[in-house]
Amino acid sequence: MGSQTGANGKPLLSVIDGKARFPPPVWLMRQAGRYLPEYRALRAKASSFLDFCYTPALAAEATLQPVRRFGFDAAILFSDILVIPDALGQKVDFAPGEGPRLDPVSTCDDFARLKPQLDLSRLSPVLETIAKVKGALPRHVALIGFCGAPWTVACYMVGGQSVPDHNPARLMAYRKPELFRRLIDRLTEVSIDFLAWQLEAGADLVQIFDTWAGVLPFAEFERWCIAPAKAIVEGLRRRHPSARVTGFSKGAGQALTAYARATGVNTLGLDSGMDPGWVCEMFGSRFALQGNLDPLALLAGGAALERAVRAILSSFRGKRHIFNLGHGILPETPPAHVELMLDLIRRGGAG
Ligand code: CP3
Repeated sequence: MGSQTGANGKPLLSVIDGKARFPPPVWLMRQAGRYLPEYRALRAKASSFLDFCYTPALAAEATLQPVRRFGFDAAILFSDILVIPDALGQKVDFAPGEGPRLDPVSTCDDFARLKPQLDLSRLSPVLETIAKVKGALPRHVALIGFCGAPWTVACYMVGGQSVPDHNPARLMAYRKPELFRRLIDRLTEVSIDFLAWQLEAGADLVQIFDTWAGVLPFAEFERWCIAPAKAIVEGLRRRHPSARVTGFSKGAGQALTAYARATGVNTLGLDSGMDPGWVCEMFGSRFALQGNLDPLALLAGGAALERAVRAILSSFRGKRHIFNLGHGILPETPPAHVELMLDLIRRGGAG
């Protein structure tokens, strides 16, 4: 397994394993996607977004495109966090231009219809994609697997779509805590399996995306975000003791301290709202730190982008830093701005 064979000449893994580097290794969340013309051309070959994710030849190509174009230090598996509800038997659709649509889980009966385990026949193409990408990547490039955190996946499973503040899931957690607990526990268990399979298929590390962590009050955050993340990391390390795990708990703010202390992740993913100075002081000696350029600064380009990139490079210098955005790249981003950002990073902010 990748994570037991050392950093293997991959700069990103060496940072996670303990070595600060300058300039830092770099990749971008959602680096494969609609801002790239070659992605849009490839996307047109699949009938639906899920078919795209489940066709290894297409998904592997989508994974490789941004690495080929920009020379990133990591590839992230092209898939989606909602393959998990799909593989649990929930109906999942991506309506073009509208985002995900799911048949909401709101009652015990809805929950009872979910499969107890992931349907491997559904997910085996995803694992095949990992193996394909692994064989095609340059040696120095790390391969990242991922899943959604149970809370964030539950937001979609319960809400049925992306709704402001994720009130349906938050209300279920208050009104039907036992049912919600069973849902979170199911997602925790199956996420351990899915991440373990991804490591076995060739991923060098995995990232847990908790995009909607920031909507919860602290006590709820502990219950529905920290505890499941800790259980996932422990469960995964029982099977793969040296598994590298990145936790991206978006919007956690100061609660990142509790998340960092409890979960056992190696790397903290930072959203753009986090103060790099505070983060370096609090976590810089114990964790690799990933982030946190504002996706809007990348979209804007020009002087604003240069200023923001330089500020991040200098704040994290000397720490174990992986340059990234604070959230996914926006579809309107000109690829030329990504080039500009990379030039600046590779010159260490000079020029
Ligand atoms: O390049 C990569 O980062 C790898 C692939 C990846 C996708 N989604 C592809 C995708 C990853 C890691 C994700 C994670 C994901 N998916 C998250 C967590 C991270 C985040 O961005 O917050 C979430 C919340 C989802 C759920 C999801 N998938 C939504 C809300 C949407 C619709 C919004 C949108 O951007 O269109 C998706 C669709 C999706 N997932 C697309 C891509 C490239 C766009 C669909 C298309 O190309 O037609």
